[in-house]
Amino acid sequence: MSRVALITGAGSGIGRAMAHRFAAAGASVVACDVNKDAAEETAQAVDGLAVAADISDESSVAALVETVVGAHQRIDVLCNNAGIMDNMALPADMSVEMWHRVLGVNLTGTFLVTHAVLPHMLRQGKGAIVNTASEAGIRGGAAGVAYTASKHGVIGLTRNVAWAYAKQGIRCNAILPGPTMTGIAGSAGAFDATGAGRLGPVIALGELMAQPENMADVAVFLASDEAAFVNGALVPVDGGWAAA
Ligand SMILES: NC(=O)c1ccc[n+]([C@@H]2O[C@H](COP(=O)([O-])OP(=O)(O)OC[C@H]3O[C@@H](n4cnc5c(N)ncnc54)[C@H](O)[C@@H]3O)[C@@H](O)[C@H]2O)c1
Repeated sequence: MSRVALITGAGSGIGRAMAHRFAAAGASVVACDVNKDAAEETAQAVDGLAVAADISDESSVAALVETVVGAHQRIDVLCNNAGIMDNMALPADMSVEMWHRVLGVNLTGTFLVTHAVLPHMLRQGKGAIVNTASEAGIRGGAAGVAYTASKHGVIGLTRNVAWAYAKQGIRCNAILPGPTMTGIAGSAGAFDATGAGRLGPVIALGELMAQPENMADVAVFLASDEAAFVNGALVPVDGGWAAA
C-alpha cells in the first residue's frame, strides 16, 4: 500500500517540489492550496488529488481532511508547508492586520491542519509530520516581526507534537529553509536573484539560493522509515547559513 501524503501550499514553490518528490517516492499525493488552479495543476502533474483549502480557516481545514480521508481512508504524511511573508516589516511598522494574517496562516494554520490530521494518525498508530519552518524560526534578523514570530511558533509546535506523540508512533520534524527560489521570495522584498536586500549576509556564504527540490528531498527523508528515530528535529537546509 502506498503512503498518502497531504501537502499544504502544494500549488507553488517548495510545496509543489514536495508533491513531485513524494510522488516519485511512490506516495499518493494530496495537493492542497488556497489557490485552486495551482493545486489542480500540481495534482495533475503528479497524478494526485487536488483540494482547495485555506489552512487558516477551521471549517475549510475540516473539509480538507474529510476529503482526504474520504478518498484514501488514511493520512500517512502531513507536510505543513503553506506560508506567507510579511513584507519584512519591522515591529513599529507592522500593521495589526498583517500580524493577524501572517500568524493566522503560518502558525494557526499549521496547528489547525495538524489538529485535524492527528486523530487519523493516532487511529493508524503511525504518522510523520514535516513542518516547513524557516531560518527565521531560530534567528531574529531574517524577516519581519510577524513572520519571525510565526516561524518561532512553528518550531514550538513541532517540538510539542514530537514530544506528545512519540510513543504513539507519530513523528514531527521541521525543515528550516534558507533563501529558496520560489514565489514567496520575490514578493517578500527579502532578496532577489542577485542576493541583494536584507539577507545580503547570507550571500557571503557564496551559495545564493536553494532550489525548492533541495527542501523537498529532506522532507521526503524525514517522512520516511529511514528517519524512524528522528523526532522533534530542526533541520536547516540553508547551505550553512545557520552554522555561520
Ligand atoms: N522561499 C524561501 O526562501 C523560504 C525560506 C524559508 C521558509 N520558507 C517557507 O516555505 C514555505 C513554502 O513557501 P514557498 O517559498 O514555496 O512560497 P510560495 O509562495 O511559492 O508557495 C506558498 C504556497 O502556499 C499557498 N498558501 C498561502 N496561503 C495559504 C493558505 N492560507 N492556505 C493554503 N495555502 C496557502 C500559496 O497559494 C502558495 O501556493 C512557507 O511556509 C515559507 O514560509 C520559504
